[in-house]
Amino acid sequence: MSDWGLKKEYLHSTRQHLWNDDYFEFLVKSVWKINKPVRIIDFGCGYGYLAQMLMPLIPDGSSYKGIDISEELIKEANGIFESDKERIRFEVSDLNEYVACPEYDVVICQAVLRHIPNPVEILDKMIGSAKSGGLIICIEPSRRMENSGIYLDSTDFDPFENDDFLRQKWIDEIKTGGRDYQIGLRIPAFMKQLGLTNIGVRINDYVDYVGGENKSEIKRFLNDHSVNPVYENSDGFVAARCQVITYGYKQ
Ligand SMILES: C[S@@+](CC[C@H](N)C(=O)[O-])C[C@H]1O[C@@H](n2cnc3c(N)ncnc32)[C@H](O)[C@@H]1O
Repeated sequence: MSDWGLKKEYLHSTRQHLWNDDYFEFLVKSVWKINKPVRIIDFGCGYGYLAQMLMPLIPDGSSYKGIDISEELIKEANGIFESDKERIRFEVSDLNEYVACPEYDVVICQAVLRHIPNPVEILDKMIGSAKSGGLIICIEPSRRMENSGIYLDSTDFDPFENDDFLRQKWIDEIKTGGRDYQIGLRIPAFMKQLGLTNIGVRINDYVDYVGGENKSEIKRFLNDHSVNPVYENSDGFVAARCQVITYGYKQ
């Protein structure tokens, strides 16, 4: 497993270009209808990005706990939320060792199940952490959709150039019990198998667009989306984030 504490810069950069605030607010208020105080747990919380997004939108009296295996990221999260530690707490914890207790109204993860080899086991623990009637939310990508959402405005650009590589990687990783590049699109089926009800699926509407002028933004884009630097002279850079948001309720 890679150490995300060493990829802090990448994590911060990508999180600044991941969500439209209005769409996230729409999910919280109109789709999930979080309109009374809730207790939230965030599996694989990183430096607490979802706490930053969620806490201003939910009713007073709510609380949040983030757990992550990276000591470095939890240290950073504790620093960011130093002044709010009554409501927002972080804990170093390996999800494989974590003992679930049904005490949360909302159990959430973002971009975590795609990085681990046993996503169904961890999803089961997420469900085990929810109270009866609790909401379980997984925000995860499908690498294939992500790849098809990239467009570079250049006559040299071949939108299919990564297809064979990704296909082989997906097959190899599934065979060897590694991570699943299509996880975002598989979660609805996993949630159903594990007994969740009222399952809903959405797509994050964020599109990262950079025009051809600002060199440092172009560099940032190429790095964030792992695009070959040979395309740095394109006239426009577009990447649809394509995160799949799946949610369901515990009976
Ligand atoms: C791509 S980052 C996402 C972080 C955060 N959810 C976000 O969206 O900003 C994946 C996170 O999963 C955490 N992670 C991976 N395996 C884990 C495990 N076994 N137990 C706890 N956390 C884990 C990593 O340390 C990392 O912070």
